[in-house]
Amino acid sequence: MTTLSGKEIVLGVTGGIAAYKACEIVRALRKDGADVRVILTASGARFITPLTLQTLSKNPVYTDLFDLITESEIGHISLAQRANLLMIAPATANILGKIRGGIADDMLSTVVMATAAPVLLAPAMNSRMYASPAVRENVEVLRERGFTFVEPDEGELACGTVGPGRLADTEKIVEMARILLAEKILAGKRVVVGAGPTAEDIDPVRFLTNRSSGKMGFAMAVAARRFGADVTLVAGPARLPDPPFMKTVRVRSAKEMMGAVGKAAETADAVVMAAAVADFRPESAASQKIKKETFDGRIPLVPTEDILASLGRSRGNRVLVGFAAETNDLAGNAVDKMRRKNLDAIVANDVSRPDIGFESDSNEVRVYFSDGTALDLAMAAKDAIASAVWRAVCRKFLPG
Ligand code: CTP
Repeated sequence: MTTLSGKEIVLGVTGGIAAYKACEIVRALRKDGADVRVILTASGARFITPLTLQTLSKNPVYTDLFDLITESEIGHISLAQRANLLMIAPATANILGKIRGGIADDMLSTVVMATAAPVLLAPAMNSRMYASPAVRENVEVLRERGFTFVEPDEGELACGTVGPGRLADTEKIVEMARILLAEKILAGKRVVVGAGPTAEDIDPVRFLTNRSSGKMGFAMAVAARRFGADVTLVAGPARLPDPPFMKTVRVRSAKEMMGAVGKAAETADAVVMAAAVADFRPESAASQKIKKETFDGRIPLVPTEDILASLGRSRGNRVLVGFAAETNDLAGNAVDKMRRKNLDAIVANDVSRPDIGFESDSNEVRVYFSDGTALDLAMAAKDAIASAVWRAVCRKFLPG
């Protein structure tokens, strides 16, 4: 199962230079399991051919509203009705104006008007056009009407100017599709996720850290966002980009993570600590690089504060979920940690196995709950494991 399996997505491609990026979007949507049907406007077809999009989508491309063959196979109204999501990428100033003004003079604008599915708009145009009062107003009105926008990025545009207007990254657009199509089991909930390793400085060039890649924690944050939560991700120094559509706070040490998680947790409904927080830090960090001639071979360490345990002492109504990365006696260690830290659930995984360990994209876990039950999640991609953990946590502790 991939995130968009079984979903029918209609992708509208309008006439801007970014139309060529629609190819990547079609491929990414298909890779995620979606059935993609492309509607290409007449000006879109000046930039990219129907044959390209048809080959990539493996479906006929719709161009003409009154085309006899496509209308006989699947009419524009049924295309609008069958779609689980309609997205327009790139969306020109022209199509935004037409949708806002209620104009339905071609296949795409007609299908937009006839659909009850959510509509995602990813504009791309010259910065000045994007900043023009007409476009600003159209975007605002369409937002109020419930259309979802994935804002363009800033950068160098095909016309040579630099500024906002470049079509958002494919992955960002596809992620918004996943968000719009996921069940909203965490709607209205605030979630904090701690992820990644921490780094404890010894001197300006050396530090203590661990092998956590941050992948599992980032996957927990992304899954919560897809399920509709307002997410704050507190990330240690992981080599992963900030996930879109959430707040990411980057920290370095256990102390900084404690501060950032503690602050975000004040208003949270659930806190998940998937971070591999250092248990000890150097007593003091040298301000200058330690020289081997003068180093006595000892680095005095002091314990760090346990973030989850401290949240567990003043719980409120928050749901607390921990992770236990173990190399032996998985069950014993995990359940013991859940009790000691006063958690609702703990996700236990065996990091001694290379196939599901730190850098791996897959995981296999057992989730222990405070009511004594447990749930086995068979080997799967970390994002699938993250979704399954959230489903179980929601069922038990955050019923909609
Ligand atoms: N944790 C935390 N603050 C710390 C250490 C750990 O919040 N200073 C959290 C982790 O994010 C994880 C859980 O506690 O959710 C268990 O972490 P783990 O490192 O497995 O356990 P420890 O309590 O540190 O015990 P040990 O290292 O002895 O296994």
